[in-house]
Amino acid sequence: MKTIVHVVGARPNYMKIAPLMDALKSSPDIRQILVNTGQHYDEAMSKGFLRELALPLPDRDLEVGSGSHAVQTAKVMIGFEEVCLTEKPDLVVVVGDVNSTMAATLVAAKLRIPVAHVEAGLRSGDLAMPEEINRLVTDRLADLLLTPSQDADDNLKAEGVPPEKIVFVGNIMIDTLMRHLPIATLDRLRPRLDLKERAYAVLTLHRPSNVDRPQTFTGILEAVHEIARELPIVFPVHPRTRERVREFGLERYLEGITLTEPLGYIDFLSLSSHARLVLSDSGGLQEESTALGIPCLTLRANTERPITVTHGTNRVVGMIPADILAGFRAAMSDTHLDRRPPLWDGHTAPRIATVLHKFLFA
Ligand code: UD1
Repeated sequence: MKTIVHVVGARPNYMKIAPLMDALKSSPDIRQILVNTGQHYDEAMSKGFLRELALPLPDRDLEVGSGSHAVQTAKVMIGFEEVCLTEKPDLVVVVGDVNSTMAATLVAAKLRIPVAHVEAGLRSGDLAMPEEINRLVTDRLADLLLTPSQDADDNLKAEGVPPEKIVFVGNIMIDTLMRHLPIATLDRLRPRLDLKERAYAVLTLHRPSNVDRPQTFTGILEAVHEIARELPIVFPVHPRTRERVREFGLERYLEGITLTEPLGYIDFLSLSSHARLVLSDSGGLQEESTALGIPCLTLRANTERPITVTHGTNRVVGMIPADILAGFRAAMSDTHLDRRPPLWDGHTAPRIATVLHKFLFA
């Protein structure tokens, strides 16, 4: 019997672990343990996802909460070290690029426990982005680098990672997306929101580089306000963003825009999959819009997911109002774009399960 410890902690982690735990659950020789670090703690940002995605209740809750990067990372490390010493895992699985991902990897590496990183190899080249540091550290220390796209393999090889550690498995988020798409209908949302098929845009914003700087945030909202004159916008607001709107007094730009609390996974998929356009600074949403064939404007200077531009529906438009508006005009003349990157096929989790079996039992 081998023990795998899976680590989740923040909103974008749950949909990446759920299909993998499911794919491994029929293995009689694997014991799975789920650790929730509690980096996110609001119902809508964490526990709601666990329930909706049918994840088991976490075996351990570290309850680290918010804090500076050092505080949050250190708290995960202290809690996770204790878990590793008690459970003695044969493998730790981490996903994505949040602080919990890097913190758990550091702990496991120092205890000489092998780490598998799902979504390895993505690079924005921008060290001002905390996630880029998390990606670099995690990939440098992980033993098994499971990549979503070929550009990720190329990045890792260019950094000198031995090719035998890298396995191109595809995008596990798309497994979760495909599984839930049939129930993600607009009718789910209609009691709360009056939406017409392909006649509205979805906006999300939460990146510190966008919302913590008054000038940048104001510029983005000016463009958003302009777009809302032509296309209704629905904006589920991240807690950080809500705080900044209040702090900088930006409420006037949001008049005429439909604001909601952060949505659960299926509600958000219902919203995004029937939209005409997505505007966002999220990483995962660039991938989901590509898989859905819906145009996406990425409100950032760069992307760690260039495949969504070359093989998908994404345009990286930056944060300057004129550029966002030019991107909007171009996106509105897009027709339905149906090009999915290789191995974004809904079968990534079983591929990863096979790789992990081989790693643990070979
Ligand atoms: C984190 C990840 C980011 C990911 C995002 C998704 C890092 C470095 N960042 O950013 O990659 O895209 O999650 O949401 O790991 N807050 C709440 N309730 C919560 C969680 C947060 O109110 O449940 C508020 C707090 O004011 C907190 C702030 O949001 O200080 C930021 O939370 P934090 O976890 O530090 O980072 P995110 O911006 O959510």
